[in-house]
Amino acid sequence: MSGDQGEKANKQTSGGEQVVTPWDVQADEGVDYDKLIVQFGSSKIDDDLVKRMERVTGQKVHHWLRKEIFFSHRDLGEMLDLYEAGKPFYLYTGRGPSSGSLHFGHLVPFVFTKWLQDAFNAPLVIQLTDDEKFLWKDLTLEEANMLAYENAKDIIAVGFDPKKTFIFSDVDYIGHMYPNILGIQKKVTLNQVRGIFGMNDSANIGQFSFPAIQAAPSFSSSFPIPLRGDDDIPCLIPCAIDQDPYFRMTRDVAPKLGFRKPALIHSKFFPALQGAQTKMSASDATSSIYLTDTAEQIRHKIKHYAVSGGGDTAEEQAANGANLEKDIPYQWLRFFLDDDAKLDQVAEEYGAGRMMTQEVKDMLGDVLIGIVAKFQADRAKVSDDVVKEFMSVRPLEF
Ligand code: TRP
Repeated sequence: MSGDQGEKANKQTSGGEQVVTPWDVQADEGVDYDKLIVQFGSSKIDDDLVKRMERVTGQKVHHWLRKEIFFSHRDLGEMLDLYEAGKPFYLYTGRGPSSGSLHFGHLVPFVFTKWLQDAFNAPLVIQLTDDEKFLWKDLTLEEANMLAYENAKDIIAVGFDPKKTFIFSDVDYIGHMYPNILGIQKKVTLNQVRGIFGMNDSANIGQFSFPAIQAAPSFSSSFPIPLRGDDDIPCLIPCAIDQDPYFRMTRDVAPKLGFRKPALIHSKFFPALQGAQTKMSASDATSSIYLTDTAEQIRHKIKHYAVSGGGDTAEEQAANGANLEKDIPYQWLRFFLDDDAKLDQVAEEYGAGRMMTQEVKDMLGDVLIGIVAKFQADRAKVSDDVVKEFMSVRPLEF
């Protein structure tokens, strides 16, 4: 998920209207995801589809699917049809390298993508958009490229299979994708880009053409070496819903180039500590918890910045209970506590006022500190050679 600054959409919220673009999320009352599905024209992931995924993969789905954190899709059913018919897909996701360290929100698409890779035994390509961050942010190209390699270590630490995963920096890999980028550029007009992304005319021309670069990895012919020259492999893209505009454009242009449309599986936003009105911003250190934060920093941030839905006093909390929707510690637990019984118990007890905010915050602190400790240990094992392996242009095994 990108950015915090730069070209804002020229649409503004008025009277409760929500705006969700890759650069801007505005929703005063919090994002209404059902409305967003209608607005974007995607489909809800319903129980039947979740059950079907369990049947097809022969395992329980990731708890984020059960909890509707991954809640929306395009053509996921078709991907499962193809998979069952012996035509498996590859996975494509990405990250804009704008900060040295990832935060918990960044983990969401990658942790889920790892689950998909394991469940479907799928090859995976990960785009690091150093070019995008150069165009949108106050970074030199060298800095953006360096951050891409730095972020690759965090991404690798999530546990991807080195034989099946290709991570690339746009700046370094662009030549391989350039034929497809040109094909896309020729078929998308400036009017369409304006219509989809809402950029205004003071955007630089790199920004106007960048969508073609994020679109290109959706087509397997952009990976002649990693995907072994097969130019007809279906593509499934796990991403946060704010990235959907790129792929609406991609799906629109695909048939004009004789390519398959990529399928998508969308997540909700991981809320900022300050509340769910927006998504987290990597540039505001108090809105997120980084995977480099110490245990003390984590406890401190939760204590001071995590918006509580509990009563203002112990008496009020006991009398009225907590508003779980608004309560960030509880909402974060929904993401990172994979224990339904425990979570249900928190919802029950905290919601009814028998549990105090501090207890929930302590529980969240324990969970996050545990995740960071494991993550740091795994990241320490990612040497420069390992990064080189993941990022070298080589045939994947699948
Ligand atoms: N634009 C995304 C960001 O700023 C990065 C990205 C590139 C991406 N390709 C993607 C995200 C595909 C999801 C899926 O973070």
